[in-house]
Amino acid sequence: MAIPALRETQFVADLLARYEEQARDALARGAYDFIATGAGEEISQHDAVDSWRRYRLRPHVLRDVGDVDTATTLLGIELPAPIVVAPTAYHVLATPDGEVETARGVRAAGGLMTVPTRSSVAHEDVAAALGGAWWFQVYVSRDRDITRRMVADAKSLGARALVLTGDTPFVGQRPRGMTPPLTAEQFLMCFQKYLGADSELMYATSIDPTVGLDAIAWLHAESGLPVVVKGVVRGDDASACIEAGAAAVIVSNHGGRQLDRTLASADALPDVVAAVSGRAPVLVDGGIRSGIDTLIALSLGADAVLLGRPVLWAAAAEGAAGVERLLRSLRDELAAAMALAGVARVSQLSADLVARRV
Ligand SMILES: Cc1cc2nc3c(=O)[nH]c(=O)nc-3n(C[C@H](O)[C@H](O)[C@H](O)COP(=O)(O)O)c2cc1C
Repeated sequence: MAIPALRETQFVADLLARYEEQARDALARGAYDFIATGAGEEISQHDAVDSWRRYRLRPHVLRDVGDVDTATTLLGIELPAPIVVAPTAYHVLATPDGEVETARGVRAAGGLMTVPTRSSVAHEDVAAALGGAWWFQVYVSRDRDITRRMVADAKSLGARALVLTGDTPFVGQRPRGMTPPLTAEQFLMCFQKYLGADSELMYATSIDPTVGLDAIAWLHAESGLPVVVKGVVRGDDASACIEAGAAAVIVSNHGGRQLDRTLASADALPDVVAAVSGRAPVLVDGGIRSGIDTLIALSLGADAVLLGRPVLWAAAAEGAAGVERLLRSLRDELAAAMALAGVARVSQLSADLVARRV
């Protein structure tokens, strides 16, 4: 593709600042806080953004960048750029049609969405709005039969991979945004069709803290789908996941929402990339807010980045059109950054393009 005309593209930092401000004005306080805040003192949450900014670039000169291509293939899915929508629970807190609104924007941008277990809209409706390939994020319920049936349904609705969240045996302590302001109907939406008259709600809806590495093979055997483990920040864990059958790992600390003071994804990524050593794709999320952040993550060895809060702010501010604009703008910004760094293909990005500022 030709390098985007920068005068016509949005500066993503400005776009996101505006979207978040509009969301703050538009959303109920509890909804805004649930999305915006993190665990504990929010040290990891703030580190997430800062840590990408500590890297500096070493651009090449005199490379032919007349034709820059951000396209990639991820677990068999062709994408216009290595940018994926992270799983975030309860989009209805951001926009009235919830995950369906987000899905419309992702579809319009030709992107890939990770649909959360804890969707505030029926998974069927989100899949229909997406109309193409998507990933399904899994929280394993204490009632394994519910997870088994949910995963089977996701597969039949077109999910192409399962994203097993590995960092959440239970929800971390979030002093400023613990309880999402949801109706019982919104909270139970994703479980509704799996609950019997005699179901014990706490048991059915809570995450099983006994889940171990064997869940990877179990989910794969149940579904036949590749299993991606999300929430890895250590090379040894990444290796263990791959040896247990994971098709990919996502370096993530859940947007700083689980264990505060967990290492930032930008700082954890090189260790994981080294340990995985090309055996499987490595993705990363947390604090990605620009094309340059994306360029740095890809240069450090990530095969794709995921975005959490930015997508919710975009949906809150402008609905599907906002989500589409965000994804397209980020893609354009990545293409422009690649061109200025002298790299025409994402497969040519390498760690020598970045230096850690001392
Ligand atoms: C409101 C909200 C809800 C989330 N819900 C989930 C979830 O249900 N499952 C999950 O694996 N991660 C969840 N996450 C974490 C995201 O998938 C992702 O790791 C994180 O948001 C990335 O950081 P970023 O927001 O800085 O982009 C959630 C994050 C937010 C902000």
